[in-house]
Amino acid sequence: MIVPGASSQALAAALTDELGESLAAVTYDRFPDGETYAAVPAFDADRAVIVAATDTNDAWVELLQLQDAVREAGATEVVTVIPYMGYARQDEAFETGAPVSARAMARAVSTGADRVVLVNPHERSVTDFFDAHVTVCDAAGRLAEPLPEDLAEPLFLAPDAGALSLAESTCASYGDGEADYFEKTRYSGTDVEITPSDADTEGRDVVIVDDIVATGSTMSQAIAHLRNDGAARVFAACIHPILARNARTKLERAGVERIVGTDTVERDVSAVSVAPIVAAAVDAVEAN
Ligand code: R5P
Repeated sequence: MIVPGASSQALAAALTDELGESLAAVTYDRFPDGETYAAVPAFDADRAVIVAATDTNDAWVELLQLQDAVREAGATEVVTVIPYMGYARQDEAFETGAPVSARAMARAVSTGADRVVLVNPHERSVTDFFDAHVTVCDAAGRLAEPLPEDLAEPLFLAPDAGALSLAESTCASYGDGEADYFEKTRYSGTDVEITPSDADTEGRDVVIVDDIVATGSTMSQAIAHLRNDGAARVFAACIHPILARNARTKLERAGVERIVGTDTVERDVSAVSVAPIVAAAVDAVEAN
């Protein structure tokens, strides 16, 4: 039985096709004092596969509620798929007294999960925070699918060295072009400085590939540099299209040709589904 969190209903539906399992009729509600309530109807499956992006605090709480609810409903095995793991970037105490929020979230989720599946967590090391078995999926190759087939001398650029492997995977999956990266310095939340790569961009179509577009500061700066340097079309591709606040506007004003993302976070730019790779991971977990 596939059990959708409120923010992952389309991905959960796509997974039912991939896994040949039915979709639970989850209800989501809210009490007058603001507390959330997520419940499942009675079901007869032994295994519950909960699919819930934790892009908001409510989504985290709903996930914990669904884990508890499926056990109450009789599930004996709970697989928890977190297509986008919020708080994953808070993976160390950056100053005295700061929480390691990713660890706190991972521990909480582990109490209700037999197994966990993550899609491109910000750092793979976040898996160490879970007490449950974790499988990680890489969706970067999927980002090639919605791109036009006629990219001119395509260059796949990561906004920082850490994202180079994503750009390389997307490039390999596209089957043409080369991959490179910018140097990035982040001074504070939205204060980011991007230093252009040495790659020749004049007249070329460029695809910037990153794991997350959150405030859009990183991506919009990269786009602006490329446009100034004479690049042809500039595409923004990301696994997790959070697009918080005015991120979309920043990218449009910077001159983006098109934004493409996956459905780990369900937005109008979610042009490709991670369902096939998540299904494979769930099955692989099953085989272990
Ligand atoms: C940071 O290391 C990540 O890979 C992304 O580049 C970052 O999270 C994007 O954030 P924003 O859109 O706020 O610049």
